[in-house]
Amino acid sequence: MTLDEFRGAAERLEREGVAAISAAADAAALAAARTALLGRKSGKLTELMSALAKLPADARRDAGAAVNKAKQALEAALEARASALAASAPAAAAEDLTMPARRTWRGSKHPVTLVLEEVIAIFRELGFTVATGPEAETEWYNFSALNFPPDHPAMDMQDTLYLEGRALLRTHTSPVQVRTLQAYPPPIRILAPGNVYRRDFFDASHAPMFAQVEGMAVDEGITFADLKATLTHFANRFFGATKTRFRPSYFPFTEPSAEMDVQCGVCHGAGCSACKGTGWIEILGSGLMHPNVLRAAGLDADKFSGWAFGMGPGRVALARYGIPDIRLLYDSDIAFLEQFAE
Ligand code: PHE
Repeated sequence: MTLDEFRGAAERLEREGVAAISAAADAAALAAARTALLGRKSGKLTELMSALAKLPADARRDAGAAVNKAKQALEAALEARASALAASAPAAAAEDLTMPARRTWRGSKHPVTLVLEEVIAIFRELGFTVATGPEAETEWYNFSALNFPPDHPAMDMQDTLYLEGRALLRTHTSPVQVRTLQAYPPPIRILAPGNVYRRDFFDASHAPMFAQVEGMAVDEGITFADLKATLTHFANRFFGATKTRFRPSYFPFTEPSAEMDVQCGVCHGAGCSACKGTGWIEILGSGLMHPNVLRAAGLDADKFSGWAFGMGPGRVALARYGIPDIRLLYDSDIAFLEQFAE
């Protein structure tokens, strides 16, 4: 190649290169043009540089000037095209800074949980701690130790779901009474919250699975007066001025036994579907622990006595929040549950 030919090649590279750069329609095309022209391996300018090395020594100076001119022109064109493209690029997807932020969804506690937490807090002030037991129980803990005679019709009070083998789903939290007394010596005061299961159909006041909370106090010299005073204190604390009443009742594991009702929070005593027209909602069963239960747990029933209750926090929630149907507690209906968000 002669010097003149080299100059011609440099001019052509400049002309064609600048044209290619100005024609680049977007950033990607511009990057491709840059590589084709100035790329270190096989860019056109690089090729020209290697041709320069083969020129006679006296021609190289002028050839170098020519190739430099082309290089500078190409770089200037690249820069100009890049800023032109940036200026005309459509703005990134428009952000509307006036749009309100999306509220984060934090969820809320279920009404039954709210009731349980409050019940536990009130009893904690009286020295009651929380104990738990298994939901899959043995017949012995669920029935026999609680003084249910074998095959006694009293078991019909609690229609039972049996598992394989001899296990069953506990029908109440009362088995925790015996489990706790076997593990810890009196004096002892516990609350035992948990789920229980019965072969019941859903209706406005029944569910086949529901929460209970058991309460139990065992010591020397515990009497029915302790039971009544404690439960009345609880009812006053929890329901405020709402009326309560005790009714004589029967449970195999307590003697005497009493049920406590609170005035219905939906109709305030007038009678409605939530209270089956009675104006009262039964919230717990209670009584002095039967000596046979204390004995089953290995205690001296002549020395120790105790009282116990079993409360349905679902029923309590109905009365507390004026919920007309227990099924609402199990529907997982967000619109309903959100009302209890703090
Ligand atoms: N376990 C009884 C029930 O589920 C309630 C209860 C508990 C009654 C403790 C008396 C004492 O119906």
